Amino acid sequence: MTAPPPSHPPPHRAAVLAGVGGCLPPTAVTNDELAQRLDSSDAWIRSRTGIRQRYFAPPGTATSDLAVGAGAEALKSSGTPDADAVLLATTTPDRPCPATAPVVAARLGLTGAAAFDVSAVCTGFVYALAAAAGLIAAGAAERVLVIGAETFSTLLDPDDRSTAVIFGDGAGAVVLRAGEAAEPGALGPFDLGSDGGREDLITVPAGGSRQRLSGVEAAPRDRYFAMDGKEVFRHAVRRMSASARAVLDRAGLRPDDVDHLVGHQANLRITNHVADEVGIPRERCFSNIAEVGNTAAASIPLALDQAHADGVLTAGGRVLLTAFGGGLTWGSTVLTWPRLDRA
Ligand code: COA
Repeated sequence: MTAPPPSHPPPHRAAVLAGVGGCLPPTAVTNDELAQRLDSSDAWIRSRTGIRQRYFAPPGTATSDLAVGAGAEALKSSGTPDADAVLLATTTPDRPCPATAPVVAARLGLTGAAAFDVSAVCTGFVYALAAAAGLIAAGAAERVLVIGAETFSTLLDPDDRSTAVIFGDGAGAVVLRAGEAAEPGALGPFDLGSDGGREDLITVPAGGSRQRLSGVEAAPRDRYFAMDGKEVFRHAVRRMSASARAVLDRAGLRPDDVDHLVGHQANLRITNHVADEVGIPRERCFSNIAEVGNTAAASIPLALDQAHADGVLTAGGRVLLTAFGGGLTWGSTVLTWPRLDRA
């Protein structure tokens, strides 16, 4: 017996950007403030990373609180408070179980929406965009709220100067709606990848099923985020450059066609190297790392929100997104910036 031809989904449904928003904790922490308790300095941090300050969520503020703030802004900017799916990219969920996305959906008045977390560390938001685009293409969703949110400070060893100065907390979000591939705002193609053989480079060793906290005392350091900074730097440049080039090839675009490179805000020197490798002038790179640090899965949507608010991203500009993170993972996509309201 032959199966009837599929009538659903409608062919060629693309995910189209329809709204953007962001949310930061109230208080910025400057390099000088960190240098009071760490063997570091404002000059070192600025020159090696480009970071001037970051935001740390106060005790009592969870990832979902920041995610709700960014999600509400993105929905408002999209002009419609609805979404039938909520995807939350995060490394720092409110708790191991359940996922944080359903809680965020309920607090945004979206009870009933499909909701799940995406775990790909700093690449999480690009993975979540791809998953959302897949839901839309499959006809499983019409409007998807995609959020990247982190309280990364909760993972940081306060005495490890090589990580404590880099990361910050925050959330950014976009709304994607079903539309057509030729419309401004349509996402794609995507390039996604991973190399789990280098899981050791970025890790929180304890707290999962491999090194359990239940009934066993973990070494205190193993509860914290650890990173081989030098190796990560090299992989980040190599992987983001290759992924960005791959996505441009797939889209039939040249580096010259890119108006704005919005890369994962890991380190200003990394972003500059990626631009050089891909052949995009550095002045076309948007960076907000000076103000917010590396906010992991929140970094690209926070950068998009700020670049939009600052009038850097305007309708018709072609935007290349590229990310790299623990896993290792990487991913890129491209879009033409649509006409959007501010929340
Ligand atoms: N303040 C002062 N000195 C510091 C410091 C800090 N916050 N952190 C490290 N140092 C010291 C090191 O101890 C080392 O001292 P030594 O030469 O006496 O051994 C020196 O600075 C150079 O360290 P190094 O690790 O070679 O510095 P770097 O130029 O590679 O910069 C990072 C370190 C972490 C900023 C950089 O490697 C980096 O950005 N890596 C990628 C991080 C990242 O993006 N992670 C997320 C990816 S998603």
